[in-house]
Amino acid sequence: MKDSQPKAIYLKDYQAPDYWIDQTNLTFDLYEDHTMVTSVLSIYRNLDNKSGKQGEDNLPELVLVGDDLELISVEIDDKPFSDFKVEGGFLKILSLKESFTLKTVCRINPQENTSLEGLYKSNGMFCTQCEAEGFRKITYYLDRPDVMSRFTTRITADKTAYPVLLSNGNDIERGELDDGRHYVTWEDPFKKPSYLFALVAGDLQHVEDHFTTMSGREVTLRIFTEAHNIDQCDHAMISLKKSMKWDEEVYGREYDLDIFMIVAVDHFNMGAMENKGLNIFNSACVLASPETATDARFQRVEAIVAHEYFHNWSGNRVTCRDWFQLSLKEGFTVFRDSEFSADMNSRGVKRIEDVNVLRTAQFAEDAGPMAHPIRPESFIEISNFYTVTIYEKGAEVVRMIHGILGAEAFRKGSDLYFERHDGQAVTCEDFVKAMEDASGRDLTQFRRWYSQAGTPVLNITDEYNEDKKQYKLTIEQSCPATPGQKEKEPFHIPVRLGLLDAEGDELVLNESGATDQVLDVKQEKEVFAFDNIEERPLPSILRSFSAPVRVKYDYSREDLLFLMEHDSDHFNRWDAGQRLANSVIDEMVAAFEQGRELSVDRSLIEAFGTVINDESLDLAVKAEMLSLPSEASLAEQAVEVYPQFIHQARQQVKKAIAEAHKDSLEALWQSLNVHKPYRPEAEDIAERTLKNTCLSYLTSIEDKAMLALAEQQYHGASNMTDRFAALVSVINAGNHDRELIDEVLADFLELYHQDTNVMDQWLSVQAASPSLGTLEHILTLMQHEVFDETSPNKLRSVLGGFAGNMKQFHRTDGLGYEFLTDQLLDLDKKNPQIASRLMTPLTRWRKFEPGCRERMRKALERIKATPGLSSDVYEVVTKSL
Ligand code: ARG
Ligand code: ZN
Repeated sequence: MKDSQPKAIYLKDYQAPDYWIDQTNLTFDLYEDHTMVTSVLSIYRNLDNKSGKQGEDNLPELVLVGDDLELISVEIDDKPFSDFKVEGGFLKILSLKESFTLKTVCRINPQENTSLEGLYKSNGMFCTQCEAEGFRKITYYLDRPDVMSRFTTRITADKTAYPVLLSNGNDIERGELDDGRHYVTWEDPFKKPSYLFALVAGDLQHVEDHFTTMSGREVTLRIFTEAHNIDQCDHAMISLKKSMKWDEEVYGREYDLDIFMIVAVDHFNMGAMENKGLNIFNSACVLASPETATDARFQRVEAIVAHEYFHNWSGNRVTCRDWFQLSLKEGFTVFRDSEFSADMNSRGVKRIEDVNVLRTAQFAEDAGPMAHPIRPESFIEISNFYTVTIYEKGAEVVRMIHGILGAEAFRKGSDLYFERHDGQAVTCEDFVKAMEDASGRDLTQFRRWYSQAGTPVLNITDEYNEDKKQYKLTIEQSCPATPGQKEKEPFHIPVRLGLLDAEGDELVLNESGATDQVLDVKQEKEVFAFDNIEERPLPSILRSFSAPVRVKYDYSREDLLFLMEHDSDHFNRWDAGQRLANSVIDEMVAAFEQGRELSVDRSLIEAFGTVINDESLDLAVKAEMLSLPSEASLAEQAVEVYPQFIHQARQQVKKAIAEAHKDSLEALWQSLNVHKPYRPEAEDIAERTLKNTCLSYLTSIEDKAMLALAEQQYHGASNMTDRFAALVSVINAGNHDRELIDEVLADFLELYHQDTNVMDQWLSVQAASPSLGTLEHILTLMQHEVFDETSPNKLRSVLGGFAGNMKQFHRTDGLGYEFLTDQLLDLDKKNPQIASRLMTPLTRWRKFEPGCRERMRKALERIKATPGLSSDVYEVVTKSL
């Protein structure tokens, strides 16, 4: 917590540091009530930063940053030193030489550290999280990513309680000490910024495997967990080896240390962290077994293991100059992990999943008060900028570069980038420059994607000239104003296009015979003409979602039905169905708002029937096409959000489809309800997803017989995917069989209460349920013995689940908002990062109908008026109002 009002910092003010740190030698003495941190730094002046002053007596002062540290002693060149000041989180050292050794001893309190930044305890083990600015909670340092140093770390601790002592690099020495203590010393040969430092100490087991790199080096791979989870590490290990191989094959990148370690911890603010040679993971992102993890979790583990591993090059070997460049490593690495997942699983499904995240969460962020470019110009608290914009939109920007350059030139660009900047802390500009230099392409206009926020809109109209046999497409681009950016310059937008004739066949678009063309849209308004077109075609626009934009084209419902059936681009085929469902639901919401009833458009019901009965469709595609847009995505696309009506309309549509196609859905469910050994492979996942989609439709009908199918699947399930899907179906069937719901929930609790990650799911399905997740029920969940108010996963499950519950969170008396506000104000004193994230739903207040809007605004006003807010919550609340 800050005493004074938090201040913004600006990219334009970036200055290189006055000093560098060549070598960092740390000693951690871990005790039950405190930890002593001894830091020995070889410091030398940055001679490029002369700033006019010269000479030994006129050196700039050295300003080290520290947060919540008890400074015990300071020495310079092995002698006690007193010419320093400790002021507002800074240690200022005066009267210096060009180079010297600084030794400090600090006392810290990991046991009391509830922020989960710096050194803290989780389930009795010590662990660290230093990105972005957590290292300053460990010792005084130049805690900024452009200061890269070689680290050694000596850890001493009680041998019985903490037999395993880990840090970055290779372990070079270990031994016994007095009083039952022992020590291990680690040496990391690679220079790194402090945010990549890690330490772990605990009573851990590990699984071990090996990987031989492309140049023939043998690497030891270890995954550490508490003993009771050791049988849930296999999938992460397989994923790690696949990632290592893929990065060699696709990017030519080889691993560089002799050992690579992953540690699973239960208390973690985010997903995982790429510390050099010692990744630390939220246990929910590493543990998986068929009995405890759903398909979604298996895929998430694979993706996050890959993501953190890929950071070894895109993040660690080449890192960020400053935190404004965060997307340099995150956007690129998300693009890399997304392509990896596409290669390992179903490319089409992965694209749809990614676009769903982008369109719901990122478009909403870009349209709200926290909108920022992927390279922000300023921030108050960097933790608030680990966003879907930096990560997912950042990945889309890299994907566009990949599309513009082509795979081969892109690879040349990435090779050049890694080679040119190995061991450096660089900027987004350096990345784009390498891509330009390697390909010869000019990305000048494209760079605006880095500096301008907001989701561009393409307004598209077309005309057909019968006499000239010419088809013309007019594309106008615009971008809504975002905070601090009223006017936008036009973007360079790659729009992939196809044209369909009346039979649904693809038209040839150019001399080379292609049926698919990328239009490089660069002006505010551009016209593209196509000749020798025999009849008026139907455009398939933005194929495979070739740019993160909104497309406005006046498709009729017939057009959408046609595309659903004929488009050769799987993504657009799916998207046509989504657009159709969206427009039908929108229309119903509008009717409800005027107090009218409206039945579900038959064309939608029939179109979904065609999909259900189409035996030629790939099962994965079928499952995706049968998924209705989520409530969150419907809300994002609405002009004004009526949460109760969105929920009601979507339910009504789902039920109407289920009732109309009950027999087909049941037959399909039946045909897929076969038992076979669990494999987390794409074809099997597709079967399960489709089966469970059918079940979800069937149980939306208030029919005991359908509920019995869910009950049957629940008890007969041989894996968590099928069991959990059945549980969700029983719960979402509503309250017409409350007894069954309670019975199944109790059974699930009984079976899995010892597995904290399974309990997260048990909690979240209840919190997010429109019928069960009442405020009263949320309060009982928070009293339940499986709940833990110090666990971000538990808080996300219950409070996050509730805040995504359209019906209950947005209840008309405003008590949902009041409750969340109370919780987050309380949490802000303990874990500001999580408090700030939980506020996200409230920041969208301007989009809601007047009643909700006013009540959400009031809740925000109350937060803002609270004294002693963290910089995290302060930034979000002040920007939101
Ligand atoms: N660099 C990590 C990743 O994307 C994210 C960790 C950031 N953590 C935080 N508390 N800000 O893999
Ligand atoms: Zn990352």
